[in-house]
Amino acid sequence: MKIYKTKDYDEMSRKAANIIAAQIILKPDSTLGLATGSTPIGLYKCLVEGYEKGDLDFSQITTVNLDEYKGLPRENDQSYYYFMHENLFHHVNVKPENVHLPDGTREDSEAECAGYEALIRSLNGVDIQLLGLGHNGHIGFNEPSDQFEKETHCVTLTERTIEANKRFFASADEVPRQAYTMGIGTIMRAKKILVVVSGEDKADIVSKAFFGPVTPEVPASILQMHPDVTLVADAAALSKIPD
Ligand code: GLP
Repeated sequence: MKIYKTKDYDEMSRKAANIIAAQIILKPDSTLGLATGSTPIGLYKCLVEGYEKGDLDFSQITTVNLDEYKGLPRENDQSYYYFMHENLFHHVNVKPENVHLPDGTREDSEAECAGYEALIRSLNGVDIQLLGLGHNGHIGFNEPSDQFEKETHCVTLTERTIEANKRFFASADEVPRQAYTMGIGTIMRAKKILVVVSGEDKADIVSKAFFGPVTPEVPASILQMHPDVTLVADAAALSKIPD
C-alpha cells in the first residue's frame, strides 16, 4: 500500500485528483469507480477544473458509483445520483449513458443488485475505484458485520451511519434506512483502489483499517489484501498510525 500524507484537506484533494487525472490521461476510456460523502468533494472540484482547462477529457470515460440510498428519487438532493451530477457529471463531458449508479427507486432489491453487479462485470473491470472511509470502517455502505459481503446487495444502515449522515437531512428520521452498495468482492475486483481520508475524527479508524487485523468488523481492513491500494490522507487523519 502506498500512503501519501498531505498537510490538509485541499492538498489531499489535489493529490488524489491528480491520480485520477493521470488515469484518465493514460487510458482515456477508463472505467472509474466513484464515491460520495463529503471527503471527495474537493477532489471532484479539481477534476472539473482540469476539464475546464482542457487538460481532461471525459468523453470516453465510464463511471460506476459505489452505492445509493434505497427509496430516494434521483431528484432528491440527498440522493447520490443528485450528488454526483451536482459535483461532477454536470460539469464535465462524460456521456450520460456512460454514468451508472444503483437505482434507489427500484423496490426489487434482488433484481436491482444482481443487475448492477452484472453491469460492473460487463465493463471489463473498474480501472480505479475511489473510496472514502466511514467512521466505523465502512466502505461504500458495507457496514461492520460478521462476514464480508461479496456482491452488490441491499444493506440496513447502522445507527452510527444514520447519525453521521443525518447532517445532510432535515432530521435523522429522514435518513433512509437502507441502501444498495457494491459488495466487498465487487470493490476488491477493481484494478486499483484510491482511498481518501481527512480529519482527526477519522484518525482512529484509519489506524484500525490499515494497520489492524483484517476483519469484517472493520470492512475497510480487507483493503490490506488488495495488491494496488493508494491512501491519500491528511496529517490529521494519519495522526494515529503506528511509526
Ligand atoms: C457515506 C458513503 C461512503 C462514504 C462515507 C464517508 O455513508 N456511503 O461511501 O465514504 O459515508 O463519508 P464522509 O466522506 O462524508 O465522511
